[in-house]
Amino acid sequence: MASLTVRQLDEKLKKLLRLRAARHGRSMEDEVRTILRAAADEAGREALETFQPPSKTPARAAAPVTRRVLVVIGGGIAAYKSLDLIRRLKERGIAVRCVLTKAAEQFVTPLSAGAIVGERAFTDLFDRDSEFDVGHIRLAREADLIVVAPATADLMAKIAGGHADDLATAVLLATGAKVLLAPAMNPHMWANKATQRNAAQLAADGFAFVGPNEGEMAEAGERGLGRMAEPLEIAAAADKWLASAGAQPLKGRRVLVTSGPTHEPIDPVRYIANRSSGKQGHAIAAAAARAGADVTLVSGPVNIPDPPGATVVHVESARDMLRAVERAMPVDVAIFAAAVADWRVDAAGGQKIKKKPGQAAPALALVENPDILATVAHRKSQRPKLVIGFAAETENVVAHAKDKLARKGCDWILANDVSPETGIMGGDRNTIQLVRASGVEPWPPQSKDDVAATLVARIAEELEEKKA
Ligand SMILES: Cc1cc2nc3c(=O)[nH]c(=O)nc-3n(C[C@H](O)[C@H](O)[C@H](O)COP(=O)(O)O)c2cc1C
Repeated sequence: MASLTVRQLDEKLKKLLRLRAARHGRSMEDEVRTILRAAADEAGREALETFQPPSKTPARAAAPVTRRVLVVIGGGIAAYKSLDLIRRLKERGIAVRCVLTKAAEQFVTPLSAGAIVGERAFTDLFDRDSEFDVGHIRLAREADLIVVAPATADLMAKIAGGHADDLATAVLLATGAKVLLAPAMNPHMWANKATQRNAAQLAADGFAFVGPNEGEMAEAGERGLGRMAEPLEIAAAADKWLASAGAQPLKGRRVLVTSGPTHEPIDPVRYIANRSSGKQGHAIAAAAARAGADVTLVSGPVNIPDPPGATVVHVESARDMLRAVERAMPVDVAIFAAAVADWRVDAAGGQKIKKKPGQAAPALALVENPDILATVAHRKSQRPKLVIGFAAETENVVAHAKDKLARKGCDWILANDVSPETGIMGGDRNTIQLVRASGVEPWPPQSKDDVAATLVARIAEELEEKKA
């Protein structure tokens, strides 16, 4: 508490205090004490009267948890790919730490790994600095998942045998987290009975594996089983294990996703449709559910199964879809991946339109459908914190997406080129550019599942950043 002496007061105040103390027959210090006590009493009473005990039931669920992965890089040629793996994990909003074995340092430097991670990479079990700040036990404990990539034959043998003579193995022995191994070695090393014995032991001990894959080896002219899984494949496996380990960054959030095409009736048996398969929207709904969100998926007619973990509302037309969307409100995040028909037939026939000999083909008058994305983005009440649309374009993709972002009043647009030659419409892969008011972020070509995982990570980050 700050101390105050009468000497520090200005002259006028001192004179007033002297007069007041004389009137009450007190010393000046006693007069100051009396005044302070009265003021404190008053403030205390006011504080007591206005005090509200903290609510036991918080208004909203806990903030999303950041998922933490420790990447252990072993001493194999594939170590260079682990730098890309770190990038892919970070793209998914995962906090990454990195340990390199001594042998790994022959292939990639701690400096480059650290630069990509964004903090120092750890290398030494007997490093006093690291033992004082992080240490092997904290590295082991502060990870939701450990990914060993490349998992060398030597590392697998040591882990299977319970060795702990360097930082990587000590952390792996001390951890209670799930461990995902991405083996990478020469096909003869992988096929060797000792390696196979170790792999079987590790699987029995609960270690998870991704790869190895069949393919070209680093050694000229060698092919076979032993190639490390690709970084995106490892990142997707990590995502899966993180979800099953209970790292759920969207827990407590309500997410609405629309998916698939709409069917606009011409008559009871004919309709206008488009080529949307629903694969991307369904993958987003599944990824959001895996991340712990309470997901409602409003799906147009598709030929794929309902995603696990989501409440699915099946609709036909754009107007049905809007009604289902309105009923699903309020939500924290709304993602509009459905390819909603812009127009419908003005007066759809109640009976099948009959073809009559000699009669001209019927003219179909079209009217505009409701704009579901704009309707939700412009809501005055209960607008979702994040409204995300898709822009399926065949030319000037980014320019059209920017225009759409402004016109529709949404927060983000995921733009993709759906020209037939891209194979995106109905295919399993997608190439996205995330368009926000702050700029455009191109994502690498990847599977629709990976797009979904990346989007979910971005959403979790955004909500966390806004503390929304
Ligand atoms: C050029 C070179 C490439 C190597 N590539 C691999 C590999 O891909 N997989 C593997 O299991 N071992 C490989 N090794 C052998 C490991 O580096 C060696 O077993 C080392 O002790 C592994 O250490 P670590 O498991 O602690 O990282 C390679 C060695 C050299 C010299």
